[in-house]
Amino acid sequence: MARLISSDFQRILAQLLSARDTVIMATVTYQGLEVLYTRQQIADRVAEMGAQITRDLNDEKLVMVGVLKGAAIFLADLARCVSVDTTFDFVAVSSYGKGQRSSGAVKLIKDLDEPIEGKNVLIVEDILDTGLTLSYLRKIFVQHKPRTLRMAALLDKPSRRIERIEAEYVGFSIPNLFVIGYGMDYAERYRNLPDICLMSPDHPE
Ligand code: IMP
Ligand code: MG
Repeated sequence: MARLISSDFQRILAQLLSARDTVIMATVTYQGLEVLYTRQQIADRVAEMGAQITRDLNDEKLVMVGVLKGAAIFLADLARCVSVDTTFDFVAVSSYGKGQRSSGAVKLIKDLDEPIEGKNVLIVEDILDTGLTLSYLRKIFVQHKPRTLRMAALLDKPSRRIERIEAEYVGFSIPNLFVIGYGMDYAERYRNLPDICLMSPDHPE
């Protein structure tokens, strides 16, 4: 697998250092890929997010709605850090095509299985990028009249936003980098990497 050449690495590091949040750049590599967040850093942050979500719920029940497929691993871990009575549902939307670029169009491919009216709903998403996906889902879900509707995104790329939308819970805020692993894909591959890694722009397909 291709490694990032040093000029790429320096450019990415400069972007990271200018990101809204302080990001610790790990020099760890996994299967030849640069690791952005290690499995331990992810686990620690997900635990904090789960604790915050639990506090905000005041012992009320929760429905976690995962956005397939990218959020599956995040939802599985986050759910185990939330200690209120919780059920799962999943939706699927069309988002990115086969590469690193979005098609722009968002379409619901799989709808909710259960009604969400009167319930506390948490949409669980891997990355909040342009915001097209989450604003589309929020618009649809609001019509179902949930009691509360919040969003949790493991990663946020605020510089890429097209729609004005913020998630109530964000794991890490990152610059405009393409990442893979921990559920996130490049052309459906790499979802099973245990760490969040950087996809090099010159990576061979
Ligand atoms: P949005 O509608 O532009 O906010 O896109 C959100 C979706 O794009 C996420 O659910 C991801 O599936 C995908 N996506 C955005 N950035 C990345 C990335 O860096 N790696 C993998 N998938 C990404
Ligand atoms: Mg994806």
